[in-house]
Order: sequence, then structure tokens, then C-alpha cells
Amino acid sequence: MPGEQYAGRRVLVRVDFNVPTDDEGHITDDTRIQSALPTIDALIQADCAVTLCSHKGRPKGKVDPDESLAPIAEKLKEFIGDRVRFAPDCIGDDVAGMRAGLAGGQVLLLENTRFHPGEEDNDPEFARALAGDAQLYVDDAFGSVHRAHASTVGVTDHIDVCVAGKLVRTEIDRLTPCREASGDGFIVILGGAKVEDKINAIKLLLPRVERLLVGGAMGWAFFKAKGMEIGASLCKPESLEAAREIIAEMADWLDRMVLPRDVHMVQVEPDTGQVTFAPADGIQPGWNALDIGPETCEEFGRIIREEAEVVFWNGPMGLFEEPPFDEGTLAVGRALADTEAYTAVGGGDSVAAITHLELDDDMSHISTGGGASLEFVQGDDLPGIEALDDA
Ligand code: 3PG
Repeated sequence: MPGEQYAGRRVLVRVDFNVPTDDEGHITDDTRIQSALPTIDALIQADCAVTLCSHKGRPKGKVDPDESLAPIAEKLKEFIGDRVRFAPDCIGDDVAGMRAGLAGGQVLLLENTRFHPGEEDNDPEFARALAGDAQLYVDDAFGSVHRAHASTVGVTDHIDVCVAGKLVRTEIDRLTPCREASGDGFIVILGGAKVEDKINAIKLLLPRVERLLVGGAMGWAFFKAKGMEIGASLCKPESLEAAREIIAEMADWLDRMVLPRDVHMVQVEPDTGQVTFAPADGIQPGWNALDIGPETCEEFGRIIREEAEVVFWNGPMGLFEEPPFDEGTLAVGRALADTEAYTAVGGGDSVAAITHLELDDDMSHISTGGGASLEFVQGDDLPGIEALDDA
């Protein structure tokens, strides 16, 4: 835990400041910034010279002004004052000079690490430059611990002491009940569009859960893989292939997977905009399923309220940004708030739904990680954690 034993050191802190921004670059949710403050504050109190690094977006190794961390430095000043400086790059002589000039208690936020290809390639030279003069590395970027990048793994080869920050520790503590859960009462809810992104999670979790509730466009991919009509509903070829693979390989466990019974859909061909509900096997050509239907909301709600002891939720049940197709996601959020079970939620969209409903205080844990929380719960060793001395 960063604190007094590290007093006066030069510290590199990996934070996850990959926060959502609007078209004008304004930060629309600063949860991830606020979540890193306890670690940053502890290091300031210990008179450390604090350099912060993070990625934002997926600029693919090139400078993209829309993904600059400059607005985040301004936001950070609102929390910890004028001690914050911003470096226009994350490596290079000028940045090294700025880092060398940092006094104890000062904070320097580096520009987006993903502006350099060496970040995602985990290039050793880039990692060495990013490590710079740091005597201590603190990983507080829980949302990125599943990435084996230079700022999460490579730098640890060049810094003597590498430890987890307060946020990473809290996340691990609070997600461990889900990582360790299995059998009766363990309910996992997965949604979102991409089955292919969650294929490993489904394969690893199905044998462990009592039930795996599937919503959103993932559900339509399973319908299609079973030969059902899905009309104009979203289903990319990769998602269909992943759904087919799961059906073929996980046959012994499929009775634990609960697919939507009905859908909420809109007519798009012809484009009448008419909205209606239909049973899962009643989607007609020209109709686009955008949410789970009321019978599914009731069934998922009943399972969560009556059967769950530990619940993990990752991914929305439909196009929740566009009412009325938010109803499924909101119903799941409300059921989680009602249950006595241990409830953990990860993933930007599901967390946004909980926040929108002001149900944050009713969850046992809201994770700052999307993919990271899922990989942790499914039981993977996460490279960003494995690389630390206190792994
Ligand atoms: C996230 O938002 O889940 C993390 O910041 C990781 O981002 P990435 O999926 O682009 O690596």
C-alpha cells in the first residue's frame, strides 16, 4: 500500500484515466479519476514526486488530439489543486527534465501512453523511457490490469519496487467473492453486442454458475446460431461464429444459459418506426430487436431476487442509451438493488445504468474495470497484477 514507507520517493503511478468525453472533449464521467485519488493523496502526503501515466481511447500508436489527457489534467486540478502539471508527451528529453524537476508533493500527468506504438507492443525501450527515474511503481489502473502493455507490465522490469495501489487492492478484495463463487446461487449476467469478446468468459463461467443470464445483442447471436429468425437485428459474423462455437463446445452446460424469452423491437424495413414486443421465436424479417422484452425482465428479475447469493453483471441488456430500449437494462439494475445477494457490476454501460438509476449505494461493488473485472471474475491471472512484487 503506498504510504509512509515510501516517503520522498520518485514514483510512477499507472492510473486508468480512460474516461468518457463528449464531442467537445468534456469529461462526462470522472469516476475513474476520483477512484485514483486515495492513492495519489497518500503519495502526496508521503512527500513523493508523483508522475501519473495512463492511456485514453485506442489511438493505435499515433497522436490523436481527441484522446489527449490535457482535459484530465485540468479536472485533476479541481481535486488536488495547482500542484498538478501536464507533460505534452510521456517520454523524451523534455519529459525527463520535467520529471527530474518535480518536487515532493507535486504531480505530473503524462500525455496518453498510447500515442506511442511501444505502449501496446510492450516495447522494452519504450518501457525503460517511461519508467524514467522512478524508484517506485504503483499500479492503480484496475481497468487496465488485463493488458500486458509497457505501462502495466514492461515498466516493472526497470523499477525496483512495484506494488498495487489502493484502488487495485479494493477492486481485488471486492471482486474476489465473484472470482471464488461457484455452484448454487452464483448468477452471472452478460450483455452487450460482442459474443466474441466474452467467449472465454462464457466457456469458463458456464461450468461454475447456477445460471448465466444472456441479454442484448449477444442473445440474438445465440438465436441465429440455433437457426432462429432474427430479422434485421444486430449480429456480426464474428458474434455468430462465437455463439456457434459455444453451442458446440459447451453442450453439457447449455442448460445453465438463460436466453431472452422475448424481445423489444422496431420495424426498420420498411422503416415504419413501429415498436412492439415479440416472443424470441417471433422476430419477423425487417424487425430489429433492441432490448429484452417484459417476460425476460420478469424471469431475470425473479432469478436474481430469489436464487442469487452472488451476482456478477457485465454488459447492458439492450440499446439502453435510447429509451424505451433501456427497460431491460433498468429492470436488471433494479433487481440487483432488491436482492440480498452480493452484487458486483463491471463494464461502462452497466455501471452507467446503475448510476442513472441512482442505485450505486445498493450494489455491493461497482467496478472501475470492464474487461478487467470480467477477466478477474472468470479466474484469469491478470498480467498487470502478476507483474507486481506484491502479486
Ligand atoms: C477500459 O476502458 O476497459 C480500460 O481502460 C481498458 O481499455 P482498452 O479496452 O482500450 O484496453
